[in-house]
Amino acid sequence: MSPGTIALIVVAASIVLWAAFMVNTTIRRQRKAQADAEVREHPGAAAEPAAARPVAATASATSAGTPAVTVEKPKALKPLTVEQMAVTRRQFFNRAWTFSFTAFLGFFGMSTLSFLWPSLTGGFGTKITVGNYDDLLAEIGPANNFKPKFVSEGRFYLVYYEGTGDSPVYLAIGATDLKMQALYRKCVHLGCSVPHCDTSQLFECPCHGSKYRLNGEYYGGPAPRGLDRFPIAREGDSVVVDTGSVQVGPPRGTNTWDQFSEPVGPFCIPV
Ligand code: FES
Repeated sequence: MSPGTIALIVVAASIVLWAAFMVNTTIRRQRKAQADAEVREHPGAAAEPAAARPVAATASATSAGTPAVTVEKPKALKPLTVEQMAVTRRQFFNRAWTFSFTAFLGFFGMSTLSFLWPSLTGGFGTKITVGNYDDLLAEIGPANNFKPKFVSEGRFYLVYYEGTGDSPVYLAIGATDLKMQALYRKCVHLGCSVPHCDTSQLFECPCHGSKYRLNGEYYGGPAPRGLDRFPIAREGDSVVVDTGSVQVGPPRGTNTWDQFSEPVGPFCIPV
């Protein structure tokens, strides 16, 4: 059961409890009003203790000394009059106000919670099927000069990877098994979108000049670490990237693939 469904059930249960509380309060008020009306009609009965009213016992001594017990029959309750059963204007407005307020709270609560827990069915934040594994490997690999593939739906670059995987993040994303990884294009410095530079084969941020290697590891600039990335898996012949689970990039100083540890040509954004 998703968190959104649980939240909706909690809201619905709260509304039901609130409604039950209000109904109970109203019934108790009506009973009290009815009891007051009876007292007004039979003032003598009010002096009598309530517990003793249904079965009142009086004792008197007989000649034999045995106490005689007289049991009073309980009085039959008078049926409510039409006036007593009628809803007054004040009661009507009270109930209408309570009902409206409860309905408003319910709708407001449910729409707020559904906003907090959207049921994502596609796009960024979900699992994205990128394409056929062999086709993708040919598209981003040596046969195509290691050109990254940008997947706009998931905001990531699919890049070829043949490094040692000597950093915990590579285990977390499964990059070494598939020889590819999905790099989040958001710069880890202040969040600009980072384009790929064809000449240097680095990712170069236009905002403050941070540079990342082809495998997303830190190369230079103010960025505190390498690019973040997403878990990647093979499902049948397809490659699936989970964009709902961002993995923090490797720290500065990580260098797991000699072939792209240095730029292969001039920078696109001069240092
Ligand atoms: S946002 Fe990329 S270097 Fe500052």
